[in-house]
Amino acid sequence: MPSLPEYDTDDIVESAVVSRLAANWGQRATVKKVEPDLDDLFDHDKHDYPEALIPFAKHEIYRGLAEASKERIRAWGWIAFNKNVMDVEQHIVNPGFSLLARDAFDTKMGDVLAVAVTQAMVDEQYHTLMHLNASSLTRRQRGWSMPERALPFSAVIRRQQRSQLEAQSSSDAALSALAYTTVAEISITSYLDLIEDNELIQPVNRATVKLHNRDEYCHASIADEMAVIVFDALAPAERTLFLTGLAEGMDAFSSTDFSTWEAILRHENVVGWERMLTDTRNDSSRQKLVQDYSGIRSLCRKLDVEDEIGIDWP
Ligand SMILES: [Fe+2]
Ligand SMILES: [Fe+2]
Repeated sequence: MPSLPEYDTDDIVESAVVSRLAANWGQRATVKKVEPDLDDLFDHDKHDYPEALIPFAKHEIYRGLAEASKERIRAWGWIAFNKNVMDVEQHIVNPGFSLLARDAFDTKMGDVLAVAVTQAMVDEQYHTLMHLNASSLTRRQRGWSMPERALPFSAVIRRQQRSQLEAQSSSDAALSALAYTTVAEISITSYLDLIEDNELIQPVNRATVKLHNRDEYCHASIADEMAVIVFDALAPAERTLFLTGLAEGMDAFSSTDFSTWEAILRHENVVGWERMLTDTRNDSSRQKLVQDYSGIRSLCRKLDVEDEIGIDWP
């Protein structure tokens, strides 16, 4: 890619980190790489989804199911994981990036930042395609229909949509949207790592997540830099709204949400599923999925609000 034109005059906001990422996008982005042949990589003997991520995997009802039933539930787990990734990209991340790309927060940012954010939006669109292909491959290779439309929006999406509807003005809605995008982009790598690190899992699924994650490490830097730039341009009341949005976003992304599992178990007619989910919900020894907010914490430290945001950091 030829070097980008220099617009770095005194009144235009730029970032050295983001400029470097924008300049090497052509070499590093997954969308620019040759696509692997997914059907060749599919291994019928591997699990489509780790049982460690199935909250009721240790429950007697699940353990008593025939292996064929468990296989279907694991495939559903993967399809639900992909749907969640796609929903976050389409309903949270890209709308937030789009606000940045058109400088809705009036940061006076230059072309390089707008280009980097627009590249990230292309990445997200491509990730959505990658995860759609991954679900489609699972359906095709296993011979099961398992449509996404049988599953609800996750609690995160529902909460973000509620905040959008309840915002007092379009600029308040924009700050809330940016806050959710920031949380998503700075913490998604830990969510993707849940699949990447597991040897028992379908190689295609691990490869999909690994390629996705590589892009996301760069997005985390971009989102972090953009949050600092926007925060700098905000008035005090807007800063408060943005920080409230960050705290809400963190809470939303780490909430326990069984609505998707409920839809899956109902769809599969698992006998006793209601009791299994109730027991799982009430089981205090169950390990909750931990969302890694160390990146958001270091952003808050940079913004000098680590203690003001009302988060009990671990
Ligand atoms: Fe993504
Ligand atoms: Fe991203």
